[in-house]
Amino acid sequence: MPGVGSSENGLRIRCDCIQMREYLKQNQKLNELKEQLMIAQQREDFQGKRAEKMFVEGGVGKRFLTATFENFERQRMPKAYDIALGFAEKFDENDGEGVLFTGDVGTGKTHLAAAIANKIIRKYSATVEFVSYVEVLADIRAAFSNHSEEAYLLEERMRKADLLVIDDLGKEKPSPFTNELFYRVVNGRYKDRLPMIITSNYGVESLSERLDYPVFSRLAAICRAVEMRGIDYRMKDYLC
Ligand SMILES: Nc1ncnc2c1ncn2[C@@H]1O[C@H](COP(=O)(O)OP(=O)(O)O)[C@@H](O)[C@H]1O
Ligand SMILES: [Mg+2]
Repeated sequence: MPGVGSSENGLRIRCDCIQMREYLKQNQKLNELKEQLMIAQQREDFQGKRAEKMFVEGGVGKRFLTATFENFERQRMPKAYDIALGFAEKFDENDGEGVLFTGDVGTGKTHLAAAIANKIIRKYSATVEFVSYVEVLADIRAAFSNHSEEAYLLEERMRKADLLVIDDLGKEKPSPFTNELFYRVVNGRYKDRLPMIITSNYGVESLSERLDYPVFSRLAAICRAVEMRGIDYRMKDYLC
């Protein structure tokens, strides 16, 4: 180390030469970089844990934690991919318009919805509620029959999150009770210009028949529909 020596009484002293000053400057820069790296890593870990909690609690599963734009083959669904990426990248400019991904099983609807969620959690530290429609209906029913306040809390989270993602909408017919709850959520978000991302295997017409009309008309007003037609990605190497 430059300029470090020993005094007569044994104390280590430093000189004030140019090399020493340069050395200390570099050392300080290095420490600052290490600190920035540590903060970035902690932030990444924290956002990763938030994303994991979101997928697990929403009933979608950890599998989609790794779904990103980078590992999606764009050429299979270029239009849906570009719309999803545009939505995620300009989330800070969003004024309430969301996307409804409809179409065949295995075409990447949930993957793109998860890629959006993963990106905006990390890029904008946004709050995202990502729920599987079937699971959320079951949770609400269970909470309601147990007289638990969980149904109310879930409704609040769905109503207030910066982004609400509903996966597999329409897979199950809702009851009058869940219809009312969805209406309150969707209408509240509509009024506050809070966006939603929705996936469904049903086309727009079938969805309008499966959902209560007031819910469907609000959704149609705030979500741009994108059709994803094609073969199941999981079968791509299986089918000749
Ligand atoms: N274009 C794609 N590029 C990479 N992986 C894809 C693509 N489309 C689908 N997948 C993968 O195939 C599986 C099924 O996709 P998923 O998003 O669940 O389909 P859907 O929700 O439309 O039924 C997932 O593991 C997903 O990551
Ligand atoms: Mg899906």
